[in-house]
Amino acid sequence: MNKSLLLFIGLLATTYAVTFDASMHCACEELNQTECTKMMGYCKWTSTCETVEYDFSCSSLPQANCSGKSTGYLCAWETSECVEKSYSCSDFTAADDCPRSLKCYWNKSGKCAEFSSCADYDENICYRVTGCKYISGACASLTCSSITAENECYGQDSETTECEWSTNSKCESLSVSASCTDLNNFQKKCENEGCKYATNSCSFKTCADNTGEQECRISKSGENERTLCAWDGSKCADAADTSKLTAENCFSQSYQNYRWTADGKCEECSDLVSEGSSSNSVILSVFVALAFIA
Ligand SMILES: *[C@@H]1O[C@H](CO)[C@@H](O)[C@H](O)[C@H]1NC(C)=O
Ligand SMILES: *[C@@H]1O[C@H](CO)[C@@H](O)[C@H](O)[C@H]1NC(C)=O
Ligand SMILES: *[C@@H]1O[C@H](CO)[C@@H](O)[C@H](O)[C@H]1NC(C)=O
Repeated sequence: MNKSLLLFIGLLATTYAVTFDASMHCACEELNQTECTKMMGYCKWTSTCETVEYDFSCSSLPQANCSGKSTGYLCAWETSECVEKSYSCSDFTAADDCPRSLKCYWNKSGKCAEFSSCADYDENICYRVTGCKYISGACASLTCSSITAENECYGQDSETTECEWSTNSKCESLSVSASCTDLNNFQKKCENEGCKYATNSCSFKTCADNTGEQECRISKSGENERTLCAWDGSKCADAADTSKLTAENCFSQSYQNYRWTADGKCEECSDLVSEGSSSNSVILSVFVALAFIA
């Protein structure tokens, strides 16, 4: 056989896996009513399934819905209208109103203020401040490497990192968005995250790594990638197609990437859109909440 034919056969064998992208979903326009209502916040059913557009403006809100809290600190009621407002910590005068979401914290002088030093906080606020920890009677900044006991090695030492116990028994600072392939030195975390740990390295699982028939459904094969698995009678392998999925589970098991067609097949949607594409995600989360009420 010639080389390119072999290569072609090799490619066929290796590319035949059904994968889903957990960060994407079918465009609303392709969904039926049942599927559409499962995508609350992204899609809405009228007589067809439509993409929800958030043409959000403070000025459309009545006074009752215009508080800082209820708009995610985007709007405020002033004299007789709802207007855009950018809040600062000093706008808040009670401990209960001092919003952590704006990185404001209630300090020892009884003021809602931006972070400046861990020493500014009482015990009951300290644990909520990213990068601080209450140790031997004082709120102090958390340094992972100064912790020597595994059961004390936890908490975020910065906005983007946290303390984790490493395989060589040290408390180390690790990115909060670390994925399987970043965890070679963190066996316990690797296993807790559903990754595979072998020969001192941490990797994503393949279907073949699932041992029982019960576990043989989907494997997390990449940061956003999921591979459909199938039990072949004795072991778990990559599924060759979606024929085992049903009208009931096609949409949900495919991470909303596939849908059930009129002729009874589970097929990939022709248009996949990303989770956060329709609008700013902060605004989205506020208005998903409003959509539930409306
Ligand atoms: C506005 O606020 C009121 C009272 O909190 C609530 O009942 C109503 O559902 C809200 N309306 C919208 C559109 O969120
Ligand atoms: C609390 O915050 C106020 C306002 O920023 C500041 O003047 C004061 O020094 C702070 N007190 C402490 C104990 O950090
Ligand atoms: C929509 O499709 C699902 C399969 O994804 C099916 O179970 C359901 O009955 C359909 N609903 C309507 C209203 O057609």
